[in-house]
Amino acid sequence: MARYLVAPAGRIAGRITVPGDKSISHRALMLGGIAEGVTDITGFLAGEDCLATLRALQSMGVRIERPEEEHVIVHGAGIEGLLEAAAPLDMGNAGTAMRLFMGLLAPQRFGSTLIGDESLMRRPMERVAAPLRLMGADIKTNEGRPPVQIRGARPLRAIDYHLPVASAQVKSAILLAGLQASGRTRITEPAATRDHTERMLGAFGVEVLRNGTTAAVEGGQSLRATQIPVPADFSSAAFFLVAGCLAAEDGLVLRNVGINPTRTGLLELLLQMGADIRVHARAAADEVVGEPVADIEVRKSRLRGIKVPESLVPLSIDEFPVFFVAAACAEGETLVRGALELRVKETDRLAAMGAGLTVLGVRNELLDDGIWIQGGAGFGGGTVDSHGDHRIAMAFAVASLRARAPIEILDVANVATSFPGFVALAHDVGLQIEAL
Ligand code: S3P
Repeated sequence: MARYLVAPAGRIAGRITVPGDKSISHRALMLGGIAEGVTDITGFLAGEDCLATLRALQSMGVRIERPEEEHVIVHGAGIEGLLEAAAPLDMGNAGTAMRLFMGLLAPQRFGSTLIGDESLMRRPMERVAAPLRLMGADIKTNEGRPPVQIRGARPLRAIDYHLPVASAQVKSAILLAGLQASGRTRITEPAATRDHTERMLGAFGVEVLRNGTTAAVEGGQSLRATQIPVPADFSSAAFFLVAGCLAAEDGLVLRNVGINPTRTGLLELLLQMGADIRVHARAAADEVVGEPVADIEVRKSRLRGIKVPESLVPLSIDEFPVFFVAAACAEGETLVRGALELRVKETDRLAAMGAGLTVLGVRNELLDDGIWIQGGAGFGGGTVDSHGDHRIAMAFAVASLRARAPIEILDVANVATSFPGFVALAHDVGLQIEAL
């Protein structure tokens, strides 16, 4: 089983560009696949998750060229142009792919079966299936989990739906189904979540009506192909933002990072902790399909523990593993509540992080919906298990910057789902990381 051995390192520096945004890359492929015309995607994330989406579209008849790793050309099949796949669609580790495809495929004339790896086969899918059924879709799950079996059930009808959980994946699935439903589909979220789908639909010429936390789309609109330069993924930059707070005495610069405000909760949290971070917004002309981008500069900082405002939880949901590492290095205590969703990510991230922090000598207490962490003691060495979760593996690699002995991290192959090249880039800035 793939693992990392990370030796203590005290100092990092550099100017780096992390790979393309995962959420935006999935959406660019899917919307390109059902658009009229040729969509040109640059800065594409060539990670396993997005490649699962790419292969699924190919198996439904979408012609896709990839002249370079990060350059993808999608020949759109049109909104009614997808074809039945010959075999189940394998989403690998990618929850986003499975949930968004549920919305895209529920209104098709043909049936589809969606499967995934061991982790994905354990994750909840009823949160998407239930609202799609209200629209008239015929969807079966296995006691709420994959495989997801969809029978073609056109036509769908619009719904007015209040999401019980703050989830961009559920919202996006309903919007995609709504594109092919009769009437106006309206979705209201309990708290703002990432809005890449709404922004990108606009770039494809679809009118999305937005009012506070409600988004609505009229069925029957077609999509016009476009160009999508994907910004660097804030969620991947997050590991280096925290690393920079711990050890960038001469500064570390992260270039061309997407700073959509529905994604940057971690920036706010680190600033509240006293981090020295400067955001140099790029000109509006650099906006990528309505997605703001910036260069972010971070320096070694004295962090203080905080009580995380619950309103920031959905805006930093994927960053908690590395945020907990920052909390462990801060003076004082940190408390996170209202983060129950962390229990149903690629793994139970509260349990996995709590266990790893304990191994490394950090006092912490798990709560139903959060965690309490006593900061300030640094990390000892030891062996921690990422449970096949990419973000947990990378978070513990960052911990090496304040460790007194080497940290071994188990089950790290899935880092390639979101951050191909992580080890090389981490090494470039000064982490002493070895992939075994
Ligand atoms: C994502 C939404 C989030 C996030 C995931 C990507 C997306 O999930 O955790 O990594 O691209 O829409 P939820 O919407 O389930 O919170």
